[in-house]
Amino acid sequence: MDRLKNKVAIVTGAAGGLGSAIVRRLHDEGASVVMTDRDEGAVGALAASYSERVLALAHDVTDEEAWRRVIADTVEHFGGLDVLVNNAGIVHVGTVEETTLEDFRNVNAVHSEGTFLGCKHALPAMRASGDGSGSLINMSSVTAIGGFPYVIAYAAAKGAIRSMTKAIAAGTSAKGEPIRCNSIHPGRIDTAMVASCGEDREKMGDRRSAGNDNPPGEPDDVAYLVVYLASDESAWMNGSELVIDNGATITDGNVSLRVRR
Ligand SMILES: NC(=O)c1ccc[n+]([C@@H]2O[C@H](COP(=O)([O-])OP(=O)(O)OC[C@H]3O[C@@H](n4cnc5c(N)ncnc54)[C@H](O)[C@@H]3O)[C@@H](O)[C@H]2O)c1
Repeated sequence: MDRLKNKVAIVTGAAGGLGSAIVRRLHDEGASVVMTDRDEGAVGALAASYSERVLALAHDVTDEEAWRRVIADTVEHFGGLDVLVNNAGIVHVGTVEETTLEDFRNVNAVHSEGTFLGCKHALPAMRASGDGSGSLINMSSVTAIGGFPYVIAYAAAKGAIRSMTKAIAAGTSAKGEPIRCNSIHPGRIDTAMVASCGEDREKMGDRRSAGNDNPPGEPDDVAYLVVYLASDESAWMNGSELVIDNGATITDGNVSLRVRR
């Protein structure tokens, strides 16, 4: 109930499937939460159903000035910053031949640049808060680990998040700072992002269409992992990649390779 009492967290992409579940679980464990999204109306409507411990802010994660404002508003409103969940995301379906440079840059701007900017601007605020500890939680994907040919831009962006996370973790560790940085790698969860792929979903590795009955996960499966990473219970975890996919990565390898066009 109070695993996150006195913690202040920012969650990006908080109007979406995973983001809204993460906000709910962080709030229910006692954290104060700033939920941000580029969809201002959606995030504002969600925040209205919470206590005064939840604040909604409009925020495009590709905009550095917006990051400065969100961090400053968080510190002013709740008195510090302990946790950042870099969760905002978009997907583009296409192989390396089908994807344009513009598609590639758009996807990487949200995931790779957005996560970079978030970590960069959250670190000074975490150092200046309370005892100087903090937890950076970066949403990657199983596509950063296996080979997923039909989402080349997304896989590349999630790979950047995976390695960026370890570089940031090694940096804080080398300085002896109590700021941790870990990545989460979910398998498929049926949110608006997956639905937006429409019929292309099969290309991405729809496990049921591939003759595999492993069901998709629920947003809460990931939200509970975020609670652990946000809490002091994970104080000894830094630079780790946490796969959460009901064993898909270890049992099947890359299902998408087996789906024929
Ligand atoms: N759903 C899955 O199967 C799955 C699997 C692995 C990883 N992920 C990752 O989980 C995260 C959340 O995805 P989801 O499934 O909840 O998708 P979703 O589409 O439900 O939510 C994504 C949210 O990000 C917001 N967003 C997009 N671009 C933004 C920007 N530039 N600035 C601010 N907000 C922006 C959207 O408005 C939306 O509310 C993403 O990083 C995604 O890549 C999802």
